[in-house]
Amino acid sequence: MKTAGAHRVRAAAPDDWSAIARTHQQCWMEAYRGHLPDRVIDGRKGPEFETLWEQRVLSSNEGPVCVAEDPEGTIAGFASGGPLRADLPGYDGELVTFYVVADSQGRGLGTEMFAFIFAGMKSARYRYLVAQVLASTPAGGFYRRLGGHVVEQRHFDYRGVGVSANYFVVR
Ligand SMILES: CC(C)(COP(=O)(O)OP(=O)(O)OC[C@H]1O[C@@H](n2cnc3c(N)ncnc32)[C@H](O)[C@@H]1OP(=O)(O)O)[C@@H](O)C(=O)NCCC(=O)NCCS
Repeated sequence: MKTAGAHRVRAAAPDDWSAIARTHQQCWMEAYRGHLPDRVIDGRKGPEFETLWEQRVLSSNEGPVCVAEDPEGTIAGFASGGPLRADLPGYDGELVTFYVVADSQGRGLGTEMFAFIFAGMKSARYRYLVAQVLASTPAGGFYRRLGGHVVEQRHFDYRGVGVSANYFVVR
C-alpha cells in the first residue's frame, strides 16, 4: 500500500467497478472537453463506462488496475495496464487508462499510480509501458517528467474526428 498525502493507492477490488466507471466519466469530460467536439465528449454515456469497468475488474489476468482513494473511500483516480493495443513493433505493454480528477491533480497521485502499474507490468514480464496521449492535451508533460519520450506520432479517426496522438514510452 502506498500513500500520496491523505490518499492511498491500492489494487482495485471487484466491487470498485461502479465507482471507477463514474470517476472515469468525470475525468473523461474534464480532460478532453475543448480538445474533442462536445458531441464526442457527451456521446460517451454512463453505461459505456459501466460495461467497460464491470468487465475489466473481473479480468484480473488482463493486467494491473489500481485506484487512489481518499480517507472516506472516495476514488480520486485510477489506472490500468495491459497488452499494447496499437501496432507498434518492438513494444508490448500499455498504460491503458490513467486519470486523476481535476481537484486532486498535482498532489503526487499520478506518480504513485504510475509506479503501481509500472511494477505490475514488470512483474508480468512486459518490457515496455507505452502511453497514448492526445497531442493537444498537456498530459505528455507527466511522462516527460518521468524520463519518457515520444516514440511515435500518429493521426487517426476517433469516433468520426481526426486526432493526433503521441506514444510515450517509459522503460
Ligand atoms: C496525467 C495525470 C494522471 C497526472 O496526475 P497527477 O496526480 O496530477 O500527477 P503528479 O501530481 O504525480 O505529477 C507528477 C509530475 O508530473 C507533472 N505533471 C502532471 N501532470 C502534468 C501535465 N498535465 N502537464 C505537465 N506536467 C504534468 C507535475 O507537475 C509533477 O511534476 P513536479 O513533481 O515537477 O511538480 C493527471 O494530470 C490527469 O489525470 N490528467 C488528465 C487525464 C489524462 O490526460 N491522462 C493521461 C492520459 S494518457
